[in-house]
Amino acid sequence: MSEVSSLKREVFTSKFGVIAAAAGSAVGLGNIWKFPYITGVYGGAAFLFVYLGFIVLIGLPVMLSEFIIGRKSGSNIFGAYKSLAPNSPWKLVGLLGLAAAGMILAFYGVVAGWSIDYVVKACSGSFMEKNPTELSLMFTNFIQAPFTPVIYQLLFMILTMAIVGVGIKDGIEKYAKILMPLLVVLIIVLDIRAITLDGAGEGLKFLFHPDFSKLTAEGVLSALGHAFFSLSLGMGTLVTYGAYIDSSNNLAKTAVQVTVADTLIAILAGVAIFPAVFAFGIEPSSGPGLVFITLPNVFQQMPGGFFFSILFFLLLTVAALTSSISILEVVVAYFKEELKIQRKLATIISTVIISIIGIFCSLSMGILEEHKLFDLNFFDLLDWVSANMLLPLGGLFISLFVGWYLGKDKVKEELSKGSVVVKYLLSVFIFLIRYVAPVAIAIVFLNGIGIINFA
Ligand code: TRP
Repeated sequence: MSEVSSLKREVFTSKFGVIAAAAGSAVGLGNIWKFPYITGVYGGAAFLFVYLGFIVLIGLPVMLSEFIIGRKSGSNIFGAYKSLAPNSPWKLVGLLGLAAAGMILAFYGVVAGWSIDYVVKACSGSFMEKNPTELSLMFTNFIQAPFTPVIYQLLFMILTMAIVGVGIKDGIEKYAKILMPLLVVLIIVLDIRAITLDGAGEGLKFLFHPDFSKLTAEGVLSALGHAFFSLSLGMGTLVTYGAYIDSSNNLAKTAVQVTVADTLIAILAGVAIFPAVFAFGIEPSSGPGLVFITLPNVFQQMPGGFFFSILFFLLLTVAALTSSISILEVVVAYFKEELKIQRKLATIISTVIISIIGIFCSLSMGILEEHKLFDLNFFDLLDWVSANMLLPLGGLFISLFVGWYLGKDKVKEELSKGSVVVKYLLSVFIFLIRYVAPVAIAIVFLNGIGIINFA
């Protein structure tokens, strides 16, 4: 027990620390790798606008709800429902979150491993003097080769384990405070380079000029799924972190700041990538390889590209690390507090299980490519099921729990710690979390998986 309470004391020593850690969780591969490529796959600006709508109307209220559940209970995702809703099935929502955490981290580690490999490639100057086709081949050959990607994936998982194993306190808070601002600076530098490329206008138009006729039901579902994924919502990451936030913190303000930071970085990543995609004649819908193929093209063109390419993939790795830690922490906090397994052992057990699932994800890019379910390989299946099904479902339950089970008075009580509650904002929040979020999630979800049919 003492370990549990000492953990709570250690983490998040300042307001900026809270934001940096939560933004560290939110900003990750989702923003820089996944957002640009799914925006490409689903047709560009129209997808972006739907995504932004979901961020404001659903993402922000759900984030605040997760913080409320976390701080109010002071527990892991399972323990939180157990203590706030004793003797009820609500704790099953916690189990759903644990499943999502395992699935997400499994494929997340694979992509983060690619990112480490690209740091190495950048250092050895492998991008230089290659044309877009060669860069594209280099990527495909790499992810299909059975061993190297697995080694890098395991390396990344070990890094994640090492940090979570000693507790996230000083390490993660400190890293996040330095590396997040640096990441922003780098993306802006890349943006400037990208928008000054010949033919950049096409890319910006693709990103900002919506053609809603291109939007499909699956695109809308993916926009919702990605809003959850990018903000780290729907499975209890921010419930877990919320438990480490002290009562002097203004939760609403923190939620707004984290949401804004996450969204801005995603858009900046899009601006860095799409102009280059169009300028170099790469398909915007080329999928998961998009950033690994287009950015090396950009680096070749820019002064100091060698240096910036190293820094970029290093920071992509670090951004992934501050996110993967937050995902692993969900599982570890559960093992530690509910199953009373000591932190170190809990960390090792969860890392091993998740890494094994991850190896299959990695292999499904190459030697296991033929094994498909619903036309998706194992990697895409875990990504799709977790982001588009488990996270929205988790978000639905979280909004019902806070809007209906806890209700306005308890929400007000929690939010008045560390801030003065503005009456009309509280009413807006309650309205969004009670009606708008659950109804919208339910409709988009049922429509997206084809049970009802609006579009
Ligand atoms: N938000 C992170 C990203 O964009 C990934 C992540 C961390 C996550 N914690 C999560 C995704 C919880 C879903 C749920 O890369």
